[in-house]
Amino acid sequence: MKLISYVFCVILLLSKSPKLNITNDTTANNFTVVKAIIPHPNVLNVTEQFSDIKELRLSETGKNYEIAFNAVKDYPFKNLRLSKDKNANVVISSLENNSNIIGAFQFSISSKKISIAANEQEGICNAMSRICQLSVLNGGRLPIVEISDAPQFGYRGMHLDVCRHFFPVSDVKKYIDFLFFYGYNTFHWHLTEDQGWRIEIKKYPKLQEIAAYRNETLIGHYNDQPHQFDGTQYGGFYTQAEVREVVNYAAMRGISVIPEIELPGHSSAALAAYPELGCEPNKNYEVATKWGVFEDIYCPTEKTFVFLEEVLSEVIELFPSKYIHIGGDEAPKAAWKKSAFCQQLIKEKGLEDEHGLQSYFITRIEQFLNSKGKSIIGWDEILEGGLAPNATVMSWRGITGGIEAAKSKHQVIMTPTTHCYFDYYQSDHPDEPLAIGGFLPLEKVYHYDPIPESLGTEFHQFIIGAQGNVWTEYMKKFDQVEYMALARMAALSEVLWCDDRVKNYEQFKNNLDQHINYWVSQNVNIANHLLDINTAITTEYKTGTTVEIKSIPEGATVEYAKPSDATFKLFTETKLTLKENGIYQFKAIRSGKSGRLKTIDYQSHCANFAKITLKNMPHEKYSANGPTSIFNGITGSNEKYGDTEWLGFNDGTNFEAQIEFPEIEKINTLSIRFFKGEGQWIYLPKHFKIFSSADGEHYQLVAETSNIKTNTKVATVVLENLNLATQYLKIEVANFGEIPDGRMGAGHGAWLFVDEIIVSP
Ligand code: ACM
Repeated sequence: MKLISYVFCVILLLSKSPKLNITNDTTANNFTVVKAIIPHPNVLNVTEQFSDIKELRLSETGKNYEIAFNAVKDYPFKNLRLSKDKNANVVISSLENNSNIIGAFQFSISSKKISIAANEQEGICNAMSRICQLSVLNGGRLPIVEISDAPQFGYRGMHLDVCRHFFPVSDVKKYIDFLFFYGYNTFHWHLTEDQGWRIEIKKYPKLQEIAAYRNETLIGHYNDQPHQFDGTQYGGFYTQAEVREVVNYAAMRGISVIPEIELPGHSSAALAAYPELGCEPNKNYEVATKWGVFEDIYCPTEKTFVFLEEVLSEVIELFPSKYIHIGGDEAPKAAWKKSAFCQQLIKEKGLEDEHGLQSYFITRIEQFLNSKGKSIIGWDEILEGGLAPNATVMSWRGITGGIEAAKSKHQVIMTPTTHCYFDYYQSDHPDEPLAIGGFLPLEKVYHYDPIPESLGTEFHQFIIGAQGNVWTEYMKKFDQVEYMALARMAALSEVLWCDDRVKNYEQFKNNLDQHINYWVSQNVNIANHLLDINTAITTEYKTGTTVEIKSIPEGATVEYAKPSDATFKLFTETKLTLKENGIYQFKAIRSGKSGRLKTIDYQSHCANFAKITLKNMPHEKYSANGPTSIFNGITGSNEKYGDTEWLGFNDGTNFEAQIEFPEIEKINTLSIRFFKGEGQWIYLPKHFKIFSSADGEHYQLVAETSNIKTNTKVATVVLENLNLATQYLKIEVANFGEIPDGRMGAGHGAWLFVDEIIVSP
């Protein structure tokens, strides 16, 4: 794919692109040209001069003019006038080299005219979106420029969950505008969930009357115990007319809308409306009021298949998209295990187990949809028990599912939590709004490569693209969606469009800075972490803890204040070894504007100067600043395990550390912290043991406990009266192990999160 687009771009450059027509009278005296297009075009020749064009005049006739006109006619962010006129100043033609890359385009803006060459809808819409960008970034003026570009991937998606929180059509359209702005061609609309059914289905009115509303909603984070609720009914749905309006709005911008109708899991809301579709028809199913994974799933009866086929028949009529997303994720099998009907069906169909039954379920739905000319997409759980023959897989629980599917020649869309979950925290700053968890900064998104390194080149063609996911448990209002999604959406767009030779994170950040200014001027709540300071904290044997400023935003200076003197001073070094206990503060300043404060609360203890050896390494996603993070004198967040202090061990892995002090230490107390976030599969350990040794080889048990509990998100375990004088300690912490049925992540090994081990005399 990359090679194809490179060749294509070279051809474009050499082909007869209209030559820049630069005349002196187009030079703007008081303005500089802003060139900050995102995604950065593979070919961008921009001058410092503005064109005279103040209005896009499109021809009154012709399909391509219609496409271009429709793409921007309702564009809310445009400040360039648009009209239909016989004296058109926009000329649209087909790409001459017959490129078969859908979405490819080329345009030039001269002093009086815009010439666009693009193939059909997607290419024209992409050209129009970049023209819009140039216009809004330059206050309504258009620079004299030549651009040609082609995407690296055919599927460029953004997802939005409108079930956990519901957003009116006006917000959904705004979201589609963002997709258009950043070169996406697919909107994955997540329409049904445990917490609400959001699409009108005329044949099943109780989906609107019952399934669309929940009685109340969880307050705070799922991990906060005990759970508390707001006592207020919440819900809503889109009428079929509204759905058509959205689909049409997107289509005019070259964006296809893929609806997701979840099955067989995440279906509590549908079961609340139609309990006969569950395995216990007499059960009082309810629309879920909190987040998570629920055991109430569709029973694979004929009644259920009739219901789903009738629902899908109405859905198909509303969505011209080739694909229908059928979910398939997180469907616990407990109800099917208990159901005599399901067990009998497993026998009758010769299936291996409940996973086989899920595969049977999905395959039946696939056959139905295929018979209607549609293809299915499912989350990677649809691999379990055997993949439906024509399914496209969305790999979300990492990349393994995607690799497996690609190797069996199924299409794959990459959307791993590690790089594509825009509901994760994007900064470890304590002021970040409450989010589900995790940590996915802008830079990590930017450096994502949807093609897994280990995948043989013959299978690369099956990775059709990538998608950013926006789950909205913790986004009540659309401005929070803007905050979480928009900057990372811009970063992912460069993953999906840019050739490696034009992709450059520093350039992207500079360009994003201009976009942020623009969005802020439009009251769009885009996250701005560009002036945040990144630190690395290291702890060296005998030296102690050092803070290093890892990256200084371009053109910025750093100031700092020590615990003993709160006045900020210019920080001219890159490293500071911490000597005083207390709060250190750092901030970046650029053009008089300060970034957010980075504060580090340091409390020295003797393990700070020790050496640590871990038997098992933490998962790369949660490895903080390395193993020494757990005794660097800085305590991890009480709220966020994804910060730079907590170490996370996945899949049932135990924690085992040997600690060597520079000399023999008197040790009376040892405390250690564990994170609890069962919604994120993070469990407290089963037990914790301390050993000591005289020689670093032979260890004796000193103390242990199995009594590890907490009412908050963090358990601090303190073992006292140890009465030790030793240079060597060993700590063993037993992971909780397999997550039991009925809990989120059931059947998987639990995560174990460990932080500051404090050793005191
Ligand atoms: C998912 O995040 N449950 C697909």
